[in-house]
Amino acid sequence: MITFAVETSCDETALAIYGDERGVIGDIILSQAVIHSPFGGVVPELSAREHTRNIVPLLDRLLKETNFDLKDIDFVSFTLTPGLILSLVVGVAFAKAIAYQYNKPLVPVHHLEGHIYSVFLEKKVDYPFLALVISGGHTDLYLVKNFGEYEFLGGTLDDAVGESYDKVAKMLGLGYPGGPIIDKLAREGKRLYELPKPLLNDGSLNFSFSGLKTAVFNLLTKKKNIKKEDVAFSFQETVIEILLKKTLKAIERTGVKRLVVVGGVSANSRLREVFKEASEKEGFELYIPSLHLSTDNALMIAYAGIERFKRGVVAPLDINPQPNIPLEEFGKIFS
Ligand code: KG4
Ligand code: ZN
Repeated sequence: MITFAVETSCDETALAIYGDERGVIGDIILSQAVIHSPFGGVVPELSAREHTRNIVPLLDRLLKETNFDLKDIDFVSFTLTPGLILSLVVGVAFAKAIAYQYNKPLVPVHHLEGHIYSVFLEKKVDYPFLALVISGGHTDLYLVKNFGEYEFLGGTLDDAVGESYDKVAKMLGLGYPGGPIIDKLAREGKRLYELPKPLLNDGSLNFSFSGLKTAVFNLLTKKKNIKKEDVAFSFQETVIEILLKKTLKAIERTGVKRLVVVGGVSANSRLREVFKEASEKEGFELYIPSLHLSTDNALMIAYAGIERFKRGVVAPLDINPQPNIPLEEFGKIFS
C-alpha cells in the first residue's frame, strides 16, 4: 500500500511518498525559517503565501528525484488539523486536487498523531504507551491505548515549550527557530539563574511556561553583564526538569512504562541525554525519533495515514481543515 502525504500546518512545506512494504520512496521538506526569522516567530500570512508559492515546484522535484508516477499511489494522506488555518488550507486544497486528479481516496491525519507515529517509522512500540508531545504549538501528555485511541492526561495552560524556546531566543536576539540555537548555546553556559517552575508540584499533569518566559525577560532587563550562554543553560535546564518531572508523574499514575517523546523540541540534545538517563534509572522504555523525524515532516503523516486507511477511514472531497480538533476527539471522529 502506497500513500502520497502532504503536511503544511506550520512553516514547513513537506511532501512524502511512503509504502507500508516499500518504506520511504520519497521525502522532501522546504523550511520557511529564513522568511520568519526576522520576526522571531511564524507569521501566518507569510507562511500560507510561501506554501502556495512552493508546493507545486516541490512536487515536481519530488517526482523527478524519485521517478515515481502518482497514479501508482493507493490514497492521499494529509494534515487536517491542528495548525495555522491559512497554511492548512493550502495543503488540504492541494491534497484534494491530487486525490481528484488521480481518483484516489483522501485520508485525514492529525498533526500530533503524525508526530507520535514518527517513532514507528524506525521502531514499532507496543501498546499502551505514553506520548510526550513537545513542539512549537503543543506540550501535551497522552496515554495511547491503540492507534486512534488517545487519552489526554495533561497539557500546557499557556505557551507551548517550543514557543517559549522561540520567545526566549528572540529576547536574546538570537533568531528563529530558537530551539536549535539555544540548544547549541547552552552547551557553553552554566546554571547561574534560578527560574520559576510553575505547576511543578501542583499534583496535575499540566504545564505552564509563560511565567518562565517573563522571568527571563525580567532577568535580562534588571541584571547587567549577563552572558547569553548562562541564560540559555538556566532556561533549558529548568524546562527539561519540568518536562521530566511531569512525565515521571504520568508514568507513576498510569503504571505504563513505555514513553515516546516527539515533536520539534524532542530534537533537543540535552533533553535526549536527561530522558535517557532517567529511563535507565527509573526503568521505563524510551523512544525518541531521529532528528530528521522530530521536526515537521510528511513521512509521519504518511505513516499515520496508512494506519487510518487500513482501518477503512476515508474523508469526503469536501472536507475542510480545522485549526484545532483535540487529538482524542479526532481519534473518535475518524475511527
Ligand atoms: O514539531 P515542530 O517542527 O513544529 C510544530 O509542530 O510546532 O516544532 C517546532 C519547534 C520550534 O519551536 C523549535 O524552536 C523547536 O521545535 N525545536 C527545538 C529544537 N529543534 C526544534 N527546541 C529545542 N531544541 C531543539 N534542538
Ligand atoms: Zn509539528
